[in-house]
Amino acid sequence: MQELVFATNNAHKLEELRRITGDKFTILSLSDIGCHEDIPETADTLEGNARQKARFVKEKYGYDCFADDTGLMVDALGGAPGIYSARYAGPGHDSRANMALLLANLEGETHRSARFVTCICLIKDGEEHIFEGRVEGEILTAPQGDAGFGYDPVFRPDESDRSFALMSADEKNTISHRGRATAALLDYLLNR
Ligand code: IMP
Repeated sequence: MQELVFATNNAHKLEELRRITGDKFTILSLSDIGCHEDIPETADTLEGNARQKARFVKEKYGYDCFADDTGLMVDALGGAPGIYSARYAGPGHDSRANMALLLANLEGETHRSARFVTCICLIKDGEEHIFEGRVEGEILTAPQGDAGFGYDPVFRPDESDRSFALMSADEKNTISHRGRATAALLDYLLNR
């Protein structure tokens, strides 16, 4: 079976990815290859950050790999938190604090449209490829549910009347930004 490194140690993301790839690939995490350092993410776009992380792993550890970067873009906030989604409320990457700040910044706002966008950079056989997935939706006025991670309790995709945090993993993967970007990645890997 083909091995690919997913440049993350986020257990939720690994679990989501492994569900999607099934038995077609063995997905290794950063700790599986002995990488325990923080990979720099200093670009000003999702694509730039995904490329930066994938190149870091390829150059330093020698593995074919892919890296992703995701942002939540809220229209009423001019696209924020965007590339700063993980550290919106500060460097602690605290999901509850991030959601609380988002809800506070949208207090009284009726125009609540938003989207998640994921960029994946694959480095394989000496070539780089970019895949994107997005899901349109809205920011709820209060958290709903406790499944998933990050902003899941406050994001309702247009395709559903429930937040991501009220969905099963498979239900979320079918319509989510990362699910769609990963489907494009898999399509490339399996059919190129
Ligand atoms: P990352 O670039 O994938 O680490 O995503 C940046 C931030 O966006 C994360 O820290 C989460 O707060 C948020 N995020 C990414 N993917 C999701 C998701 O599927 N649901 C909810 N929040 C997410």
